[in-house]
Amino acid sequence: MCGIIGYCGPKPAASVLLEGLKRLEYRGYDSAGICVWSPEGLELYKRKGKIRELAALVPAGAAAPAGTCGIGHTRWATHGEVNDLNAHPHLDCSGRIAVVHNGIIENYLTLKEKLIAEGHRFASETDSEVIAHLIEKYYSGDLLEAVRKALALLKGTYGIVCLHRDHPDRLVGARQGSPLVVGLGSGETFLASDVTAIISHTKQVVYLEDGELVSISPQEFKTTDLKDQEVEKKVESVSWELEQIEKGGFTHFMEKEIFEQPESIKRAMSGRLDLEEATAHLGGLNMSNRDLLNVERVRIVAAGTSWHAGLVGMYLLESIARIPCTVEISSELRYRNPLVERNTLHFVVSQSGETADSLYAMRELQRKGATVLGVCNVVGSTIARESDGGVYIHSGPEIAVASTKAFTSQVTVFYLFSLLLGRMRHLSADAGRAFIQDLQSVPLKVEAILAGSRAIRELAVRYCQYKDFLFLGRGINYPVAMEGALKLKEISYIHAEGYSAAELKHGPIALINEETPCLFLVPDDGLREKIMSNIKEVKSRRGRVIAVCAAGDREVRDIADDVIEVPRAHETFYPFLMVVPLQLLAYYAAVELGRDVDQPRNLAKSVTVE
Ligand code: AGP
Repeated sequence: MCGIIGYCGPKPAASVLLEGLKRLEYRGYDSAGICVWSPEGLELYKRKGKIRELAALVPAGAAAPAGTCGIGHTRWATHGEVNDLNAHPHLDCSGRIAVVHNGIIENYLTLKEKLIAEGHRFASETDSEVIAHLIEKYYSGDLLEAVRKALALLKGTYGIVCLHRDHPDRLVGARQGSPLVVGLGSGETFLASDVTAIISHTKQVVYLEDGELVSISPQEFKTTDLKDQEVEKKVESVSWELEQIEKGGFTHFMEKEIFEQPESIKRAMSGRLDLEEATAHLGGLNMSNRDLLNVERVRIVAAGTSWHAGLVGMYLLESIARIPCTVEISSELRYRNPLVERNTLHFVVSQSGETADSLYAMRELQRKGATVLGVCNVVGSTIARESDGGVYIHSGPEIAVASTKAFTSQVTVFYLFSLLLGRMRHLSADAGRAFIQDLQSVPLKVEAILAGSRAIRELAVRYCQYKDFLFLGRGINYPVAMEGALKLKEISYIHAEGYSAAELKHGPIALINEETPCLFLVPDDGLREKIMSNIKEVKSRRGRVIAVCAAGDREVRDIADDVIEVPRAHETFYPFLMVVPLQLLAYYAAVELGRDVDQPRNLAKSVTVE
């Protein structure tokens, strides 16, 4: 949930750390800090607020910290309120050891009481500070050894980096449950929560696994396990380019990522469609056609927006591949002692590939013998590496906390998977080809919707003063309605609920009045008439109606207060066309309300704690 970074090399560490923290800020942004080695002692700068506020605190020019070894942190508070004292890095009693931590130490109170009884003085309310004092307790010259002994007492999750006054060019890092990568530059070495913090310096990285420690210096790195056994590691190369993590002239990353969707959807299907065989090829499944034919049921597990993408996947697998499918919220499934049946194929969907709820749910299912495939965006992420196979969605780095292009790319993968299984069962080659042509026509239709974004902005400006919204869809667009409500909630802070339009009369209709606009998704599909009746139920109670409908739908235009038209399409493909106007509506409402669109309050991009 937090972002951590470490640097050892020839450059002044402070600027490298601040630049890296800026790139990690989407992981948590309520407070931040850096600590740099200097001959006079460890130089600590930390405070509540964003990286730009921290940068203002760090002396610049001639007074800038000269040290070439240091650590940094950007925080998403779990223990202890948001203030300067609870910001990281945390020091031990002597001020000679500094630690940054991402994760939760569950037994910190017991450890803290013992350490206080032994005379340690604590400066913060955080769980993380116990790590600095434990290392202090065990340190007798060998930093790696002291860290190993300290870690042996911790229960919970951590990604940590530790700096010691006695070691001007060495850092020790470790991982248990929270991601940590080593970046190998020429004459410099990095540690970071993810590659976005270091790709401006190097593309050569090593991904740490749980239970691994690493000791780095400018020239080298050495990985060992908790029993001090050396661990061989593979150096991998990152495919992302620096400009992909820049705004590229857009005001916000979210705006850029919404407008990237025609390309990101194309990338998600590129090289995976076979018009001749009228099917799809997904190379990373690690399953033979016989294995795929033996699949009798699919279960999809995810959180947040990824869960909504999974729900669209369920409709597709049942309608296109005719396979029974269920979708579970990962945090609920994990603690429900889930039943795992033979011939049930499991998917874990996660943009970051680091969401703790989804990672632990995957491990629980694998422990019960399930085959679990990952649908991830971040290459080398934990879920991607630990799953039994899977599909990368290739939507490129998604920096904005509110997920947009990852949703449409995740959904694209389920169109591909449904086609693959459908063609192995009842779907004819002609039907398969028609499906492929419809899917390949989606990027152009999305482009047409983006070209009309000005009208959606005007609508957002007119509606952003309302306090409550209902988003209503049916069938395969019901999850899209929920996704639209989530987008509006998480970035504009306007209360919004997504419902199946038919559910209105079972309760939510009590909320209908002039003050609660209802946004209906009205594609020209088999459920259109049903949705029109639901709209009439709202209009007869003087509710305001915004409708997203197929181009030229006069009847909808006559009954709704406001309309957003999207290009006509085969009914199976409307989720792509229905979600983009909702992403734009939420984006423009948040901008109009002056919200911090890319870093909404209380949120973080990948939720690595439970
Ligand atoms: C979506 O906009 C949110 N950022 C959040 O709901 C997110 O989808 C959820 O935390 C799951 O993240 P993941 O896809 O990285 O696992």
